[in-house]
Amino acid sequence: MHRYRFDPFFRTEVNVLTLQVAFAFVMLGIFGIFFNFLYHNIATAIVEGIRAAIASGTVSSLGPAIVAQIEQIKNQNLYMLVGIMTVATVFFGYIVARVTLSPARNALASQKQFIGNIAHELRTPLSVIKTNTEVSLLDPSVTLDMRETLLSNIEEMDRISEIINNLLSLSALVRPERIEFSPVDLSLIADETIQKFAPLAKSNGHHVTLRKSPEALVWGNATALRQIVGNLIKNALTYTPPGGTVRVTVEPTLQHSVELVVQDSGVGIARKDLFRIFEPFYRGDPSRTKSQGGSGLGLAIVSELIKLHQGRINIKSAVGRGTTVSVFFPAVADKGVVGNEADHKSGLNEIAVDFSKI
Ligand SMILES: Nc1ncnc2c1ncn2[C@@H]1O[C@H](COP(=O)(O)OP(=O)(O)OP(=O)(O)O)[C@@H](O)[C@H]1O
Ligand SMILES: [Mg+2]
Repeated sequence: MHRYRFDPFFRTEVNVLTLQVAFAFVMLGIFGIFFNFLYHNIATAIVEGIRAAIASGTVSSLGPAIVAQIEQIKNQNLYMLVGIMTVATVFFGYIVARVTLSPARNALASQKQFIGNIAHELRTPLSVIKTNTEVSLLDPSVTLDMRETLLSNIEEMDRISEIINNLLSLSALVRPERIEFSPVDLSLIADETIQKFAPLAKSNGHHVTLRKSPEALVWGNATALRQIVGNLIKNALTYTPPGGTVRVTVEPTLQHSVELVVQDSGVGIARKDLFRIFEPFYRGDPSRTKSQGGSGLGLAIVSELIKLHQGRINIKSAVGRGTTVSVFFPAVADKGVVGNEADHKSGLNEIAVDFSKI
């Protein structure tokens, strides 16, 4: 009893076993009822047949008439049995699947919670170290070498701080019901985000363009949408060599949704990576992406946030030619209706995840 309460895997084993035994009993019950029913119907048909034949004086035709009647009853009952058995099997299968998966589901949720707690604990000491380092830099007696070391420390701390923020975002998504939705102008967010990344784009000589409709209202959460657009634009800038182009488009589509497209002329994503890039901490071929990029959390967060908005993401990429990421959000006027599209060109890798139908 103690083990059943505290060991989730043992509990699952016992539950599944109990369900299987219950299933066997239910099936036995169904068979029992079925044969009882069949026996009763056939017996009634025989008695009724004999009575009718005696009453009408046609005893010679009795045999074939009763056989035909029994055949009909048998078929009817058989269809009913198959129907009930199918329903019972599907029902038990569903319950067993849910029970079996529940420890995995709970483990995943507490893993996110655990990551969130650690990230939260690390944030305060990190900011103390950073502040102390910045204060040390104010001291004029610090040597040039030391100054360089301290500056590089601050850079690394900024990186850690970004990872911590990303981890906190992921763990916050454990409770999506707390996130508030309202009409948000995606064009405005794209504009602001491009302004934010302008210095980075300029320093790399990237050519960034924005095409947007005057107002593209999305039913969403402004902070989450900012993070989606920010992560996608950051990826485009990070994985595009200096001098490349990044095109951002925001416009409503015919299917009552608003489409955000971030297209770059960068290194592209190999097919083997494309199917894994939404996994937390997954990073593409490091030799191609070199030391750029972060921890592999950006797209994991993006996909979770799009899921939250019941949107759809579609990534097409060709190695050496660039990547196009399209995200469809439900428009304010018509929440949740998103169309489907497919484009298969040679050498083009594509992944589409549609959260609007889940
Ligand atoms: N626009 C892009 N062009 C080429 N490769 C990309 C692009 N966007 C993502 N990738 C590939 O997908 C991987 C995962 O991207 P993701 O944004 O999740 O993580 P990251 O950029 O490595 O780190 P983070 O976003 O956490 O700082 C990247 O490592 C990169 O290999
Ligand atoms: Mg990224």
